[in-house]
Amino acid sequence: MAALLLVCAAVCPRAGAAVYRLDDKPGLGPEFDGVGGLSGGGATSRLLVNYQEPYRSQILDYLFKPNFGASLHILKVEIGGDAQTTDGTEPSHMHYEDDENYFRGYEWWLMKEAKKRNPNIKLVGLPWAFPAWISGGENWPYVYPDRTAFYISSWIHGAKLYHNLDIDYVGIWNERSYNRKYIMLLRYTMDKMGLEQVKIIASDNLWEPISWSVLHTELSDVVDIIGAHYPGTVSSSNARKTGKKLWSSEDYSTVNNDIGGGCWARILNQNYVNGNITSTIAWNLLASYYKELPFGQDGLMTADEPWSGHYEVQSPIWVTAHTTQFTQPGWHYLKNVGHLKKGGSNVALTDGKGNLTIIVETMSHDHSVCIRPPLPPFKVSPQNVTFQLQGSFKQIETLKVWYTKFDFFKNSSKFFSQHSDIKVVNGAFSMPVGVDEIWTMTTISTGKRGTVPQPPPSRSFPKDYKDDFNVKTPPFSEAPNFADQTGVFEYFINYNDPGDHVFTLRQVVTERPITWASDADQTISVIGDYKWQDVNITCDVLIETANTGGVFIAGRVNKGGELIRHAEGLYYWIFADGTYKVTNDLPGKTVLASGKSGTRAWKWHTLTLRIQGDSAYGLLNGYPLWKDVRVTHPQNGWAAIGTRGFELAQFDNFHVQAG
Ligand SMILES: *[C@@H]1O[C@H](CO)[C@@H](O)[C@H](O)[C@H]1NC(C)=O
Ligand SMILES: *[C@@H]1O[C@H](CO)[C@@H](O)[C@H](O)[C@H]1NC(C)=O
Ligand SMILES: *[C@@H]1O[C@H](CO)[C@@H](O)[C@H](O)[C@H]1NC(C)=O
Ligand SMILES: *[C@@H]1O[C@H](CO)[C@@H](O)[C@H](O)[C@H]1NC(C)=O
Ligand SMILES: *[C@@H]1O[C@H](CO)[C@@H](O)[C@H](O)[C@H]1NC(C)=O
Repeated sequence: MAALLLVCAAVCPRAGAAVYRLDDKPGLGPEFDGVGGLSGGGATSRLLVNYQEPYRSQILDYLFKPNFGASLHILKVEIGGDAQTTDGTEPSHMHYEDDENYFRGYEWWLMKEAKKRNPNIKLVGLPWAFPAWISGGENWPYVYPDRTAFYISSWIHGAKLYHNLDIDYVGIWNERSYNRKYIMLLRYTMDKMGLEQVKIIASDNLWEPISWSVLHTELSDVVDIIGAHYPGTVSSSNARKTGKKLWSSEDYSTVNNDIGGGCWARILNQNYVNGNITSTIAWNLLASYYKELPFGQDGLMTADEPWSGHYEVQSPIWVTAHTTQFTQPGWHYLKNVGHLKKGGSNVALTDGKGNLTIIVETMSHDHSVCIRPPLPPFKVSPQNVTFQLQGSFKQIETLKVWYTKFDFFKNSSKFFSQHSDIKVVNGAFSMPVGVDEIWTMTTISTGKRGTVPQPPPSRSFPKDYKDDFNVKTPPFSEAPNFADQTGVFEYFINYNDPGDHVFTLRQVVTERPITWASDADQTISVIGDYKWQDVNITCDVLIETANTGGVFIAGRVNKGGELIRHAEGLYYWIFADGTYKVTNDLPGKTVLASGKSGTRAWKWHTLTLRIQGDSAYGLLNGYPLWKDVRVTHPQNGWAAIGTRGFELAQFDNFHVQAG
């Protein structure tokens, strides 16, 4: 009797416990394809590359290192297209038709860092935008579908050739239309280039109409995965009828406080439970862009201060760990998983070799804060649950336990802590489950909550910042902290220069790309602290386009990302036709001053802009050119450099001082 009581205390069904059976005898459910993060769409990892060690490696460890933090299964990256794609531009591997370079930007580097930590991580590439030559100037990538297929296949081929990276999956055109002929040609071209193993995801938009096309056209032969964005945990019946794998190929997009973590926890379970979705990818991987850009801090964690080394590991990292550290792509969902009686959900996965991982979530908080909440109802109450393990899981005697408790209102959340093992008796165990909790019960014993020493405290951008761009072998093509918002600014070497300006920064996009967001008609790269008010900016500039060319330096630039066309600020322009202008906005609609400057192309000029309170003045080559310009709006913003249109131009000896 005593012995029986003892056993009962641990495992007998608790009061009112609902029983959930987990069984592999009736066969397994669909294959699980993993949890991922998305770098790009666009420039969301921009500031990461400029972190000093050891902080940069620590951030990468939190994202990719197995059994440490998020331990991601998938890294999805943007195939740069020289255009604005949400928080900046990412450079193309082919700016021009006769151009090819597989060392631009930071996505190659990021993929290699991810592979270094987890050689099994899956890689996905997807374009948002394309350089203009693809379509002969039309804002449409399917004008010459063979050309676009060659362009994308070249990127995949280049990944292997120059970086030994095997791209596992490729997409079509992010959140835009697909074209059947193009998808067929992409498959054909990849096969011809020896890239048969690369799977096609279509179409990174809604479930329809792609699911219909896959059901009814030749696309059924070439589309491997139907990828939808922000599906709200459900899929369409056509999508399920295709028999293809269903992915939420972009999801989450919520500020990474605890509420964001809660949204992510529910999505990770319920995308499968409600939608038969077998992979979920977070936009974005890492909030590593200036916070005031659109969707600030919508990453799994935040690292947007390379100048201080400060970063923050937020709840989504630990929420991810609950699934990723105890499953792998290639595992299978069990068939009998779903909602819990009193709210929340459970999924269970197996490697087919006896390992079992059960993940329970009971998120309750106001779901309207998640970007695409699942369908109601979400009423969740404390409950007792009993799991009955059957089939080959009957042998299991103990399970490791990992636990998260969100406490949204008291800031006392506890993430991903290990609890004592659960003893399974006669294939069953019971447990109480509260509200806003995540539980992982697993046979996998390698789980770990990675820690590193506290990173340095947060600091604002240096008030005195200089860059002469004199880097003989730059580790990246872009200069630190410059965040391109239209156009691409790259390190450049002037072999013919007598000596003053051999190493410069050059704007290189010469035609308006096939855009995804609304690029400005001017090019612009921003830098610094959005709070800056009084600034002195000096920069040497070289216009490379005779007659019509022009360049600017600017302060108080108040918008970026998708809103860049509407950026205000104080812009000081000089032009190749011998004139200057001071404008209150990037498009130049509000002119505050203008006149003759004697400036011309192919001659270096030094521009100096001083903004103090509500007044500004400008110097050209050290001499006053204009003064007493009133600036009442905006009150603050970034510093910037840029050009009048899509044209080549160079910049050197950039210097900003803020009050
Ligand atoms: C869970 O079970 C315990 C032990 O039997 C009981 O005290 C508790 O009230 C139960 N909780 C709920 C929510 O039913
Ligand atoms: C999900 O797939 C399983 C089989 O893999 C099937 O039994 C189930 O009905 C599907 N669920 C939905 C919502 O389509
Ligand atoms: C579970 O997974 C571990 C680690 O991958 C493996 O060593 C073990 O053989 C698997 N099977 C069981 C029953 O634990
Ligand atoms: C919780 O923390 C956030 C951010 O640190 C803060 O803004 C908020 O006021 C805190 N709430 C409570 C109840 O302490
Ligand atoms: C800018 O330069 C002027 C002239 O040298 C100086 O008076 C002012 O303090 C400087 N402003 C800042 C923010 O450094």
